[in-house]
Amino acid sequence: MSTFHTPVFLKEVIEGLKVKEGGKYIDATIGGGGHGVEIVKRGGKLLGIDADSDALEFAKEKLEVKLIHRNFRDIEQIAKTNGFEKVDGILFDLGVSSHQLDTPARGFSYRFPDAPLDMRLSDTTSVTASDIVNTYSEEELYEIFARFGEEQLARPLAHALVGARHMKAIVTTGDLINVISRLVSDQNHLSATLSRIFQAIRIVVNDELGALKAGLAGAAHILQPGGRIAVISFHSLEDRIVKQFLQGASWTAVTKRPMVASDDEVARNPRARSAKLRIGERL
Ligand SMILES: C[S@@+](CC[C@H](N)C(=O)[O-])C[C@H]1O[C@@H](n2cnc3c(N)ncnc32)[C@H](O)[C@@H]1O
Repeated sequence: MSTFHTPVFLKEVIEGLKVKEGGKYIDATIGGGGHGVEIVKRGGKLLGIDADSDALEFAKEKLEVKLIHRNFRDIEQIAKTNGFEKVDGILFDLGVSSHQLDTPARGFSYRFPDAPLDMRLSDTTSVTASDIVNTYSEEELYEIFARFGEEQLARPLAHALVGARHMKAIVTTGDLINVISRLVSDQNHLSATLSRIFQAIRIVVNDELGALKAGLAGAAHILQPGGRIAVISFHSLEDRIVKQFLQGASWTAVTKRPMVASDDEVARNPRARSAKLRIGERL
């Protein structure tokens, strides 16, 4: 298995999508190709999409399939221009890969304090995390931390950031960490707060919830009747969007409740801890 990213729910996704010989599938988040390779092994015809050119470079080494460097919000148009207008299954494995988290220059992780505060999935996105932290109003920052981070300290954190950036612009992940650590002294509490705040900002930088809504709507237009969609999410707001989408009239929810990873999978791959999988079938 590659160290680029260990796929979550590999068996469950392949079984859930009922991958069959000659069927057409889209992996809308190809990443390191973990799920994609399994689809191809089972004889599926695959189209891979990713917003990140690094991911596509890596996936290209493992997969001889068409790989498209785009945001999956345009999935319908991408599918139609690549001969995948009627497909049997679509996978969205949301968020970031381990490779993205482990690459300091991407600025996704608070583990690398010298990194630029970037967090863009794609270099075609113009606004970075640093732009947001330095230019959004205190009220807007509060909204981001409260809504996307469900952060109890949202109000004092937003206030402290606005104060700190008057003295010196927040340019590196370390600059952001310094502001947060002044308000949270307990180390465990600090890690949890950093993780919520970093995720909240990342969601805004990449308009992740907007892309998910658009991607699901597009997927509904290209899945054939009986075709299946699988979505792995890592945030409660994402899961809510997927749940509501699959409650629509055109769908049967194959998973009535979201699947969570087994203890065994979490032990092998800690990233699976917060993962939820929902599968739906197009009527
Ligand atoms: C969790 S990883 C996918 C891992 C993959 N399933 C595997 O097994 O290696 C998520 C990937 O989705 C990509 N991604 C996230 N949001 C995206 C979007 N809106 N459009 C296209 N790609 C996106 C990220 O760049 C990342 O490579």
